[in-house]
Amino acid sequence: MTGQPQIGDVFGEMLRDAFAVATGVGPRPLAGGRLPRPVIEIIERDDGLVNGAPAAHYLDGPADWQPYDHRAVDRVRGATLDVGVGAGRIALLLQDRGVPVTGLDTSAGALAVCHRRGVRDLVHGTVDGHVADGRRYDTFLLLGNNLGLLEGRERAPALLAALAALARPGAQIIAHGTDPYGTRDPVHTGYHERNRRQGRLGGQLRLRLRYRDLGTEWFDYLVCSPDELAGLIRGTAWRLTDVDDRDAPYYLATLRLAG
Ligand SMILES: C[S@@+](CC[C@H](N)C(=O)[O-])C[C@H]1O[C@@H](n2cnc3c(N)ncnc32)[C@H](O)[C@@H]1O
Repeated sequence: MTGQPQIGDVFGEMLRDAFAVATGVGPRPLAGGRLPRPVIEIIERDDGLVNGAPAAHYLDGPADWQPYDHRAVDRVRGATLDVGVGAGRIALLLQDRGVPVTGLDTSAGALAVCHRRGVRDLVHGTVDGHVADGRRYDTFLLLGNNLGLLEGRERAPALLAALAALARPGAQIIAHGTDPYGTRDPVHTGYHERNRRQGRLGGQLRLRLRYRDLGTEWFDYLVCSPDELAGLIRGTAWRLTDVDDRDAPYYLATLRLAG
């Protein structure tokens, strides 16, 4: 016993259990072999902060979505790549609307849940890896806070370049982000300061996810202000054309392929 989690498909295992609880399909997680056990996503930050949240919302239908999710899907047009499709909640609605949508995810287990729920077109891997497949898209979705996949100053240009390589002329990215700087909680403001001292963006979170005995490797996930986002986009193939912050601190950023 090392006290360290086994590295594995945390998201996939968690979504599989959340799906079993929601539908009765597959073995349900039980406490003491008898009582239903809630499925909780555990997020560890590298300063020791731990947060837990029920995983069930990844399966939510549109009636339970946040308003910005509805505004995001209403902006979709053309062939759409749902980056980090999760349990497929957004892709399923787009499919119902007749939108040609592809769900991409690094989690094989998440894709298995998407498949069981009826998402038809799924890709296992990264955006960068998908470029060689030759498919091209008009809309890219980074929802469920997945603007975080920009990670920080190092990764953002590469991810945006890969999305540009997958883009048709006039393509758009619709991304859900969170502005982290409204808080006065010293746990967070202190973390932002520490990050800046290290040359990182304030909200460049270093996280790992845990579920039962599994953990992910540590990874960067970005929460940034719209101004910081504008800075990250400068010099890339994309232009920031709209920031919808009606549900602040959450916002929807729309980026368009320049030229
Ligand atoms: C916070 S969840 C969001 C799920 C979904 N977009 C939603 O709104 O319900 C993040 C998802 O992104 C996936 N993911 C994480 N890193 C990824 C990467 N580099 N490329 C593609 N997907 C990734 C995770 O496996 C997970 O399914």
